[in-house]
Amino acid sequence: MKKIFNNEIGIDNINQLVELTGWVNRVRNLGGLIFIDLRDRSGLIQLVVNPESKYYTIAESLKNEYVINVSGKVVERITSNKKIETGKIEVIVEELNLINTSNEVPFQIIDDVNASEETRLKYRYLDLRRNVLSNNLKLRHKITMSIRNYLDKLDFLEVETPILCKSTPEGARDYLVPSRIFNGKFFALPQSPQIYKQLLMVGGIERYFQIAKCFRDEDLRADRQPEFTQVDVEMSFVDESDVMNICENLVANVFKETKDIDVKLPLLKMKYDDAIDMYGTDKPDLRFDMHICNITNILKDNKSDLFKKVIDNNEIINAIVVRDLKDKYSRKEIDKLTEYVKKYKANGLAYLKFGNEITGSIVKLLSEEEINSIKDELAVNNNDIVFIVFGQKNIVKTSLGALRSKIAKDNNLIKNDDYKLLWVTDFPSFEWSDEENRFVSCHHPFTMPKDEDIDKLLIDKANCYSKAYDIVINGYEVGGGSIRIHNQDVQQKMFEALEISQKDIDEKFGFFVNALKYGTPPHGGFALGLDRLTMILAGTDNIRDVIAFPKTTSSSDMMSEAPNVVSEKQLKELGIEVSDKDE
Ligand code: AMO
Repeated sequence: MKKIFNNEIGIDNINQLVELTGWVNRVRNLGGLIFIDLRDRSGLIQLVVNPESKYYTIAESLKNEYVINVSGKVVERITSNKKIETGKIEVIVEELNLINTSNEVPFQIIDDVNASEETRLKYRYLDLRRNVLSNNLKLRHKITMSIRNYLDKLDFLEVETPILCKSTPEGARDYLVPSRIFNGKFFALPQSPQIYKQLLMVGGIERYFQIAKCFRDEDLRADRQPEFTQVDVEMSFVDESDVMNICENLVANVFKETKDIDVKLPLLKMKYDDAIDMYGTDKPDLRFDMHICNITNILKDNKSDLFKKVIDNNEIINAIVVRDLKDKYSRKEIDKLTEYVKKYKANGLAYLKFGNEITGSIVKLLSEEEINSIKDELAVNNNDIVFIVFGQKNIVKTSLGALRSKIAKDNNLIKNDDYKLLWVTDFPSFEWSDEENRFVSCHHPFTMPKDEDIDKLLIDKANCYSKAYDIVINGYEVGGGSIRIHNQDVQQKMFEALEISQKDIDEKFGFFVNALKYGTPPHGGFALGLDRLTMILAGTDNIRDVIAFPKTTSSSDMMSEAPNVVSEKQLKELGIEVSDKDE
C-alpha cells in the first residue's frame, strides 16, 4: 500500500526523500528538464526529471494517465504555484517506475472539463479522477460518517432491511423484480424502508437508523434519481417535537463537522398552509424574501369586469414586489415572464411599476385609492415593480412561487454559501386526486392525524392535518417524516377515510396491519435524502455530481448501458415473454 498522499507533502518536508504513486496528469518537456504533474486522490504535485537522470527516457515516454511510482527529494520551488496545495514545493525524481500505461483518454482530467456530460457519464471512472467529483465523494463520506457517529452516540442501532420486498405504499411507481421460483410473481424494490422500520419498532428495536438505498420509478429532475440514498430513522415512545429535535440536531451537526457552519437551533417552523400562502410551495427558499401578498381584499369592490369576475368566482388576486428593479423589466422581459407563469397554468401576468408616475398593464383598471392601498399594504417604494396573478388559488400560488424563485435567480438575489433551514409542519392528511376521484394520502396511510382532527377523518377530510413534517434547506425538500398511527381504531378509520377495502388492505399490506395489532409502541421517524443534503453542502444543483455512478434523466446508465436485454434463457426461467422489444 502506498504510504503517503501528494497533499501531505509540504514545506516541512524539504530535503526529505519521499515515494509517491499516482497518475500522470500532464508532462511538459522544457527542452531539458521534464516536469510531470503527478495526480492522486488528494491532488497534484510537481515532479522534475533532470536530463542527466537515468530515468529520463522513461520520463520522455510518459503520457497522460500513465500510472507511475517515483522516489525523490522535496525541494522548495523558486516560483510557487498558488493554484495547487503543494505549490510551494516540487520533487526532484531519483527513481521512476512505469507501473501501467493508458489508452488516450476521451477528455482531459481537469476541473474545467469541456466534454459533454454524456461522454463523462460513459467514462464515469475517468470523470471520478477529477478533483470536483472526488471532493464531492469525500464530502459525502464525511457526512455519512458524521451521521453514523452522531446516531450511534444516541443509542440508535443501524439495521439493514431487505431490498427484495413487497410493494410499499410510498406513492411512486415500483421497480419490479420477477421471481424465478414463483413464475408470474414479483418482488418490488423498496421505495423506502418505511414498513420495515415500523416493523422494527413493533420488534422492540426502539431506535433504528439505516443509510438505505431506495428505488422509485418516477420522472426525474435535477434533484431526483431513480436510485437514491436515505438516512432513514425511526424511534419509539416519541412525539413530533422529539423527532424534529433529533433530526435538526443531526443536520446541524453535519453542517458543523463537514463545513464548520453554525446552524441556529431550534429551526424556524412554518405550517404547510402558511408556506403555500406566502411562498407558493411547501419547500420555500428563505434566502430571499419577496413573499406573496394577498390583495384580493383591496380589489374586492373593483369596478372592472376583469376583477369583478375574479371576485364573483371566489378566486384570488396575489402579488409579489420586486424591489428596486423596475427598470430591469422592459415589455420584452415582462412578456418572457408571462410565458413563464403560463407554464404553471396562470392566465397571465399583470404588473404595476412605481416611479415618478405609476404605470403598468392594469393601472387603468384601478382607482387611486386602490393603488394607494396596494402601495401601503405591500410597502412599495419608488423603483419597485409589482407582479400580479389572479385566478384559482392553487394556480396563483404555484405560479407566483415559481416566479419568485426565477426572479431571485435571474437577478442574483441569492448569496452563495447562505443556508436557510426550516421545518414545514402540519401537512394536510389528504389531497384530492382527480385521477382516482377520491381523497388520497398526502404521505402514506400510516401517518398519524393531529389529535384534534381524528374525529374529522370521515366527515371533513379537506380540513384534516397530520403529524408530518419536512425539513427544507434553500428551497429543497431534504427530508421528511411523521408520527405513525399505532392505534388500531385510528388506523381503521384512516383506511375507511381513504376508501381502501378490506380486500385491498389484506392484499397490499395485511401482514403489516396485522403486526400493528401486537402491542405497537407509539413511534415516528424521518428520512433525509443523503444525495440532496450532500448536493447542497457541495454547492451544486445537480444530484449526479454527488453520486459515484448516477443514472441519466432517462433513468439509464450510460457506462454499463443498463437497462439492457437479457438472454432468452433468463427470460424463460422467469416465465417472461417480451412482446415489444424497445431496441
Ligand atoms: P420521502 O418520500 O419524503 O419520505 O423521502 C425522504 C427524502 O428522500 C429524498 N428523496 C429523493 N432523493 C433523490 N431522488 C429521489 N427520487 C428522491 N425521493 C425522495 C428527499 C426526501 O425528503 N418513508 C418516508 C420517510 C418517513 O416518513 O420517515 C419517505 O420516504 O430528500
